[in-house]
Amino acid sequence: MYLKLITSTIILTALSACDSKSNQTNESDSSKEIETKMTEITNDPHSFARPEQAVVKHLNWNAKIDFENKLIEATATYSIDNKEGVDTIYLDSKDLIIKEINRDDSDSTLNYKSESFNNYLGTKLSIPISPQTKQISIKYKTSEGADALQFLDPQQTAGKKHPFLFTQSQAILARSWIPCQDSPGIRFTYEATVQVPKGMMALMSAENPTSTNEDGVYSFEMKQAIPSYLMALAVGYLDFKAMGRNTGVYAEAELIEAAAYEFAEMQAMLDTAEALYGPYRWGQYDVIVLPPSFPFGGMENPRLTFATPTIIAGDRSLTALIAHELAHSWSGNLVTNANWEDIWLNEGFTVYFENRIMEEIYGKDFANMLALLSHQDLKDEIEYLNEEGRSADTRLKVDLEGRNPDDGLTGIPYDKGYFLLRLIEETVGRERWDQFLKEYFDKYAFEVMTTNKFMEEIDQSLFNENPKWKSEIRIDEWVFETGLPDNCPVVTSERFKKVEAELNAWLDGKAAKDLKTSEWMTPEWMHFVRKLPNELSDKQPKELDAHFKFTTIGNSEIQAAWFEKVIPNNYKAAEASTEEFLIRVGRRKFLTPIYKAILKSDGGKATALSIYEKARPNYHAVSRQSIDQLLEYN
Ligand code: BES
Ligand code: ZN
Repeated sequence: MYLKLITSTIILTALSACDSKSNQTNESDSSKEIETKMTEITNDPHSFARPEQAVVKHLNWNAKIDFENKLIEATATYSIDNKEGVDTIYLDSKDLIIKEINRDDSDSTLNYKSESFNNYLGTKLSIPISPQTKQISIKYKTSEGADALQFLDPQQTAGKKHPFLFTQSQAILARSWIPCQDSPGIRFTYEATVQVPKGMMALMSAENPTSTNEDGVYSFEMKQAIPSYLMALAVGYLDFKAMGRNTGVYAEAELIEAAAYEFAEMQAMLDTAEALYGPYRWGQYDVIVLPPSFPFGGMENPRLTFATPTIIAGDRSLTALIAHELAHSWSGNLVTNANWEDIWLNEGFTVYFENRIMEEIYGKDFANMLALLSHQDLKDEIEYLNEEGRSADTRLKVDLEGRNPDDGLTGIPYDKGYFLLRLIEETVGRERWDQFLKEYFDKYAFEVMTTNKFMEEIDQSLFNENPKWKSEIRIDEWVFETGLPDNCPVVTSERFKKVEAELNAWLDGKAAKDLKTSEWMTPEWMHFVRKLPNELSDKQPKELDAHFKFTTIGNSEIQAAWFEKVIPNNYKAAEASTEEFLIRVGRRKFLTPIYKAILKSDGGKATALSIYEKARPNYHAVSRQSIDQLLEYN
């Protein structure tokens, strides 16, 4: 904490020194500036790497996936740049069983040092190198509890016949399956050879196969440099279906048709995104539909988004998630947050970009409904964080020193970030703002972004054109202060007003079957369910269920919102369905509010724990950690 304060003070001094002498280049000043900026970038509280000294440039990963023992055995060979000719390179690892470490300029195996820290940082590997060292290689295997990995039994898959494996590396879990410099500010290229049981297909965040091969050995290459949190692997019995020129989907055979139907707009989304903010730089864009225990809705692994099957609603109504993950191909994967305190630069920009894609494809009305739902989420999140004594986490730039980066993963970087960018758009005009964004993605492609660097960029490339913009937006307040500034854009939706009118009519006694709902799409249903009073009579949920079948509806978003509303009202008819959902689905965004709702019901704690006992083995470590905490399990 103390160190960091010093760093940012130096940056400020260096920058203002530079400002005041903008015309006379003072060499020592500008090199000092670069150096201090570099320190800011490499000063990641969640990594032991010291990339300014010695950094990994390329990884060659050779792995064998052992489904029987649920582990990966691998050799990772790193090409390194020993920039400062130091005698040690530091890598992050977690729960890895290291067999030996070698390097190209020495015949004997190396005496490395391994120091373990807390439950999220893992282990610091200190590996001796020389100024001549070009390569090091580590032979290791993963342990049973590897945080990133989820080995699934056949019954947890769609086909129920074969096992499955997927990884989830963001934020700092890559170190649990590959020793690496696990900081988003460090990029490297990779190639890999992965051996899997015959009949299975392996896919990575790289150039991928489209059919299963005979011998079960797959080769991969990722030519663009990526940060470690985008390392990804999925292994299963998978089919591929091309969707367009450079888009496609992977899924188990049982799901491939449904997935192809659901994601029909993928190519249009990609074309739209390119038209908005410049070329897609990754070649192919595919989505893999994972089993339902995947802990997130989606994960933007380059070239291959990982997605939950809970977005397959049958009517293409939950595809904003695809737009979101696709948008990360610019905001996040191309221009990347320097560390997890800057995550709003990834997620806030992505929600904004996602909304623009949705507007192009579904129209402004539709995009505005999504924005209003995001506004509700934002207000709820701020209220919740305030109640929890976590107001500091309502800043866009959060302080994660000494904390698990997962703590920063609230709705704030997403929704507050979105509304800041929307405010900028509304203030400077869409055309000017789009031009700025397009240039921003181009100028900083494959680079690292910090909050300070972004603030400087927007000042110099946008706000200087019109000082009024700066005073109207008050960007510092948005980024560095808590809560929601009073200039947050106001979004209105005629369609939501109609929903509210129907809801009020129902509350006034109009029968559910007489409500005018035939044109409603998912956002309207979400609004309806969320706006139901928190206290419902015994009869009310029954009547709604009789007509709208929320309890068993195939749309996971509506269903989860419904459970959240009716469970605290002890609505018995939803209990079995809630339990089934919690056992099948491992998506944390649904689990947390539903378990919280159960806690609010009569005898809630016992019910929640008894369901959790059954459901927990199905969850990925990410979800387990959150629900363990919520239910004070163990
Ligand atoms: N990159 C995130 C998921 C993530 C963030 C994982 C931080 C681990 C740490 C992904 O792009 C995301 O935001 N997913 C959302 C969906 C989205 C539509 C808001 C999700 O999983 O719900
Ligand atoms: Zn995201």
